[in-house]
Amino acid sequence: MPQLGDATRGRVLFGGDYNPEQWPEETWHEDVRLMKDAGVNSVTLGVFSWAKLEPEPGAREFGWLDRLMDLMHESGIGVVLATPTSSPPPWLGRLHPETLPRDADGRIEWWGGRQHFSHSSAVYRRHAAAITEALAARYAGHPALTMWHINNEYCTFDYGDEAAVAFRRWLRARYGTLDALNSAWGTAFWSQGYDTWDGVLPPRHAHYLNNPTHVLDFRRFTSDMLLECYTAERDIVRRHTPHLPVTTNFMPLWVGQDGWRWAEEEDVVSVDLYPDPRDPLGAQSAALVQDLTRSQARGPWMLMEQAAGPVNWRGVNHPKPRGLNRLWSLQAVARGADAVCYFQWRQSRQGAEKFHSGMLSHAGERGRTFQEVKQLGAELARIGGEVTGTHIPADIAILHDWNAWWAGAQDGRLSTEVDHPEVVRAWHRALWESHLTTDFAHPEHDLSAYELVVVPQLYLLTDTAIDNLLAYVRGGGTLVCGFLTGIADEDDRVRPGGMDDRLRDLFGIRTLHEWWPLDPGETVECEGFRGTLWSEEIEPEDGAADEAIPYKGGELDGLAAVLRKGRAWYVSTLPEPYALRALLARAAAEAGVRPVLEGLPAGVEAVRRGDLLFLLNHGREPVTVEVPGNYDDLLTSTPVEHELTLGRYGVAVLRP
Ligand code: GLA
Repeated sequence: MPQLGDATRGRVLFGGDYNPEQWPEETWHEDVRLMKDAGVNSVTLGVFSWAKLEPEPGAREFGWLDRLMDLMHESGIGVVLATPTSSPPPWLGRLHPETLPRDADGRIEWWGGRQHFSHSSAVYRRHAAAITEALAARYAGHPALTMWHINNEYCTFDYGDEAAVAFRRWLRARYGTLDALNSAWGTAFWSQGYDTWDGVLPPRHAHYLNNPTHVLDFRRFTSDMLLECYTAERDIVRRHTPHLPVTTNFMPLWVGQDGWRWAEEEDVVSVDLYPDPRDPLGAQSAALVQDLTRSQARGPWMLMEQAAGPVNWRGVNHPKPRGLNRLWSLQAVARGADAVCYFQWRQSRQGAEKFHSGMLSHAGERGRTFQEVKQLGAELARIGGEVTGTHIPADIAILHDWNAWWAGAQDGRLSTEVDHPEVVRAWHRALWESHLTTDFAHPEHDLSAYELVVVPQLYLLTDTAIDNLLAYVRGGGTLVCGFLTGIADEDDRVRPGGMDDRLRDLFGIRTLHEWWPLDPGETVECEGFRGTLWSEEIEPEDGAADEAIPYKGGELDGLAAVLRKGRAWYVSTLPEPYALRALLARAAAEAGVRPVLEGLPAGVEAVRRGDLLFLLNHGREPVTVEVPGNYDDLLTSTPVEHELTLGRYGVAVLRP
């Protein structure tokens, strides 16, 4: 199978989405001059070009793209060619309204924005296949082509009639019989029993709460249908260019599809990453997504999109202060990215994203953004040969599963304050702040390579996953689990006792009497720390626990907040950050896992990649860091002996 390395060939890919169809051709030559100046070696063309390529049904307007592909080749810039299928031209919706998706209220999502396609529409799929085929046939042998990018951020739901037919087909394949579906969905509740497949619809707007398993299956179905759209296009381009890698891009903690399943179908796993420059934990939330993406890729991955300055979709959109773009880009490289790319090359003057930054902003080449981009391009060129293709060692895995997130987010839950990504963020943060490098893994993956496995929250766990966790601990692994884990089976049926009995046994819990969610801002005293978000009334098995940290005061006074039985920990609340950090650092130390470096100043991140040691100062004040031994800093080509000072947002890439 082709890999990212086939496209990078020892360089970090640097560039971004390039939308030259928005500009007169004179501008293209100016673009190339500035791209070369900035060290851009890769552009993604065609993401939103369908109407330009096929201005009316069946027409083919490839001349402009031919000229661009040639121009890129002459300039030594590789092209990641996108299939334009995420934004069909207006004629498709006008002539074939059935290609337009409907929301849960039955409203059509019209053209005029983007992503207005129904994954289930046979007509849409036919047209998408045709334009993909035409592109692949035309450019298969073009020397500029390095990779394929299918569609863009697949995320469209469809509750319409054609989707209903496809949903039934998907459900038949999953359940076989209506009896099995009725049982899995628990339709005895509220008189929902189906007597015919034709009665089953997408979970459209209903008077009161929709059936949660119905909603969960619809999410699974949507992910699978979009994946079908992806694989259909992938197979077309693969037929023409079996030697070139294929990818697609996501924001995994926004509208995630089932990332583990999708990753199996991609040659290169890509991600779009837009941490808020004002978020004090922006670097940590970026590190989380980087760790997740690397784990999906099982190796180097592609930062397909980031912003050189502000985005335009938050309430208030802040620019990146001087140095931050460089810092966060090198952080991605430290955590396994072999491609650092942006949305987009040249900031648009028109359209919905004209206030979204580009590498070349409205300020032009003298602007700070471009000048910083240029510096970064030069630095990536300097380190590319040493970093690309190398791996990041990690002894800890955080378990994550989109199915568990979707199920846990159902409408009728006990607390809307419990936000799954936020809980995962809190746990990852605790490890990140302790300089413990983490992978992510699916709960059914082989975990035996990890010394420590942590489960921030997996509301839904299959029997296979539970067996996997038990086997992991039996095999000598250390497991730390957070609350609301193992509550439901894969059909979202609550496990008898409110939590799987094998897990209760693992943690030494006799009875889980009640869940006690906390109000916003409310805390619960525990011995030595405060808990937030959630608490539980649990009764340990007599004498089973090796350790118990109690709640103090209130209804739960004296009951266990944290339990440890052997190498299995259960944490029934969300400890405040310092306490969760201490707890996980202790579990890691006891499992024999050491931080990347000891004694780092606050705000400094350290990551080992291959033989290299990356040090990143996320603070605005200079810091001095002690390092064991002698190194060369690849960014400055200077020797480092035992210590170095990192300036504001400073980075060092040290080779021993
Ligand atoms: C996403 C999309 C891009 C662009 C950016 C803006 O990542 O893929 O086309 O809209 O968001 O941040």
